[in-house]
Amino acid sequence: MSKLRIGAIGAGGFGLFALQQFLQVPDVELVAIAGTHREAAIAMAQRFGVADPIEVEALLCLPEVDLVYIATPPFLHYSQAHAALEAGKHVICEKPLALTVAQAEELIAMARRHDRLCIANLMQRYNPLYEAVRRLIESRVLGECLHGWFENYAGDEGLAPEHWFWDRAKSGGIFIEHGVHFFDLFEGWLGKGTVLAAQRGLRPGSGLEEQVQCVVRYANGALVNFHHSFTQPARLDRQEFRLLFERGDLTLDEWVPIRARVRAVVDEAQTRTLMEIFPGARLDVLKTYGGSERMARGRHKHLDISQKVDLHYGLEADKMRRYCELLRALFVDQLAWLRDRSHQRIINEDNGRNSLAMAAAATLLAESSS
Ligand SMILES: NC(=O)c1ccc[n+]([C@@H]2O[C@H](COP(=O)([O-])OP(=O)(O)OC[C@H]3O[C@@H](n4cnc5c(N)ncnc54)[C@H](O)[C@@H]3O)[C@@H](O)[C@H]2O)c1
Repeated sequence: MSKLRIGAIGAGGFGLFALQQFLQVPDVELVAIAGTHREAAIAMAQRFGVADPIEVEALLCLPEVDLVYIATPPFLHYSQAHAALEAGKHVICEKPLALTVAQAEELIAMARRHDRLCIANLMQRYNPLYEAVRRLIESRVLGECLHGWFENYAGDEGLAPEHWFWDRAKSGGIFIEHGVHFFDLFEGWLGKGTVLAAQRGLRPGSGLEEQVQCVVRYANGALVNFHHSFTQPARLDRQEFRLLFERGDLTLDEWVPIRARVRAVVDEAQTRTLMEIFPGARLDVLKTYGGSERMARGRHKHLDISQKVDLHYGLEADKMRRYCELLRALFVDQLAWLRDRSHQRIINEDNGRNSLAMAAAATLLAESSS
């Protein structure tokens, strides 16, 4: 395959955003567009200089399409990905991969049988901060990770009451439509988890699901709370991750994390490791300890501490630029696999399935508790 030729289905806000990134990757071109909102699809065709939009069935019949990028609402993902795989195409599908785990498994089995790609666009693991946090946990430089928190206070200004997002038959609900990104991140950090409890909050009057939350236990015993609410003006949009360790805690800002802060009590070697994990970070030393002051206890363990630090990393970072970088990085990684099957991808088919399995379990528990 010299050039990879894409056919895009769905020309909405996110489809356009992602395609503008995918098409910056060398040797990738867009050859056809299908979308039901004709004006948006025509605008997209103009943006990329391709022919006017065609029907999905016609797009899938085009021999020149190697890969189908699906950016339609979630309830269409399974049937469109199925049809694309049946037509022999590779698939990059917006998250979630499907609305049920059985559908996702069927798609993945089909893709494996035909040696095709079939991933959900879970681009979060391409963030350098994902890798930094993974190393922070794995190195145990701050001891065991004990607790996690993800708080998503999102705007709903762009989501009119009739938007598909609120229609659970179309979106799958908040855990499935949005939560999959964060289940995927935490699984990369802490391994497989089990959803222990979940709740949801319905908007008075309309009964729309506007809040969901759940608690997940991970293999090392860590408990993590996930909260998502879509309730406020967009300009208040705010997301924060927190992880508690035996020697301190970590905070990440934004749902596409761009800044990290670590508050910790550490010895000399641990300070050095922190600076290796977060190169170029600003390290404020808040207190130093000598002699018997170095001794401390936590969880009934002895700790040796030379200083209390407050580390800031990524102060200059910009969320939208990072978002663009992640989309390009995901595409480059998948393209490398298409060219060489021995290439180990950061995101593969299993991420689409596993994140959906967590989201489906949380959705079921939340429904049974409301
Ligand atoms: N990966 C991410 O970070 C991220 C971010 C935002 C949205 N998304 C996902 O992207 C997808 C699309 O979201 P959006 O915000 O762009 O939605 P949107 O409503 O703006 O766009 C959906 C598009 O699909 C088209 N469409 C609907 N039915 C169709 C059909 N039968 N055939 C062809 N096209 C059809 C619509 O005309 C529209 O252009 C969703 O799955 C969403 O979860 C992913």
